[in-house]
Amino acid sequence: MATIIDGKASADKILENIKQKVSELEKSRDRKPGLSVILVGEDSASSVYVKNKEKKANYVGFNSSVYKLPETTTKDELLALIEKLNKDDAVDGILLQLPLPKHLNPSDFLDKIDPKKDVDGFHPVNSGRLLNNEKPYAVPCTPKGIIRLLEEYNIQIEGKNAVVIGRSNIVGKPVSMLLLNKNATVTVAHSKTKNLSEITKKADILISATGHAGMVTADMVKKGAAVIDVGIIRGNDGKLRGDADFDTVKDIAGAITPVPGGVGPMTIAMLITNTLELYMLR
Ligand code: GUN
Repeated sequence: MATIIDGKASADKILENIKQKVSELEKSRDRKPGLSVILVGEDSASSVYVKNKEKKANYVGFNSSVYKLPETTTKDELLALIEKLNKDDAVDGILLQLPLPKHLNPSDFLDKIDPKKDVDGFHPVNSGRLLNNEKPYAVPCTPKGIIRLLEEYNIQIEGKNAVVIGRSNIVGKPVSMLLLNKNATVTVAHSKTKNLSEITKKADILISATGHAGMVTADMVKKGAAVIDVGIIRGNDGKLRGDADFDTVKDIAGAITPVPGGVGPMTIAMLITNTLELYMLR
């Protein structure tokens, strides 16, 4: 049976550490780290994520604000808010929660966030730096959390075969770059990939970010592989499930992240980490 990678415990430790740091910083600096989150529209999953982000930001002692804008927000209104936050000296990190309503195109906004306040690392300056293996101001939160978990559990990356299922700008592409920069041999699979299981069976590290519950089955996994499950899907029974069929995959894998309690909590811990790092830059 695989080692269960306890993302919740790792995330709690990171948050505890930052809470401590913030209380010390308060003695030497005139302000706390500031995180501003923008949520446009009524997407129910996004509302839950944003609530959790706000809760953790408050927990560690950040000065956090959430801007909830209506579904009908125009491009100019959203740009005006981003511009205001760019100029606000109390704000270190700006997060525009995705997805946006259909009439708004993320690329019209992500490159308007000051790269030094781009807590998600989605600005082209930051994604370009990641691509070039130069230090970005911030690295996307979920990918950064995945690497932290692999390192914490002493799972070797260098020289290993890593297979990433999913090519999103939020997870698949940036985690592939991080793994490549750490000298893994990286394959990116996606919805048009042929013979997926032939590819995944070669993975020492298998990262799945598809959002299809249970699609990674035991027969797709190499014995002893580390399986990192980024999927988070709520079933009709109200329970959360991941991309991996956990109950069968855990008997083949060497290590596996559960859902919930794996990658999810680390994403928020990395958001908090990134905010503190951006604060320290200023
Ligand atoms: N939507 C799903 N994941 C993320 C994330 O990491 N950042 C933002 N901004 N939106 C998301």
